[in-house]
Amino acid sequence: MKIAWSKELAVGVAEIDEQHQQWIKRLNDVAAALAAHVGPAKLGQTLEFLADYTQTHFATEEKLMAAAQYPGLKTQLAQHQELTGTLKEILRDFSEEGATQKLAETVNNYLGNWLLTHIREQDLAFGRFLKNKPA
Ligand SMILES: [Fe+2]
Ligand SMILES: [Fe+2]
Repeated sequence: MKIAWSKELAVGVAEIDEQHQQWIKRLNDVAAALAAHVGPAKLGQTLEFLADYTQTHFATEEKLMAAAQYPGLKTQLAQHQELTGTLKEILRDFSEEGATQKLAETVNNYLGNWLLTHIREQDLAFGRFLKNKPA
């Protein structure tokens, strides 16, 4: 599944919106590498780019949310940790078993759905919080 960023996913914070677009690109790069049956070194590299970028993105959001004293930060932290754990498992499974069907399914279904749901249900709420926050 190729996923795309669109305006309905806009949080309204430029840094976050740019990172979401970059995150989606990196996920699509992994899916494309899987579909093209590239070698393990190349595929591993796309997976690591995705995992690294995920950490960068979560750290950025958590910093902005803490600075704004966002009450939803705890839920965000929990969900970010959950995905971080999943990505670690994916990397570990990949290093042990290579490009399995399970890996392809996780990349093609789970990760994209997770991201879209998280943006719609969690990150957009942060955007609304900022908009309504008195200056
Ligand atoms: Fe996000
Ligand atoms: Fe988030």
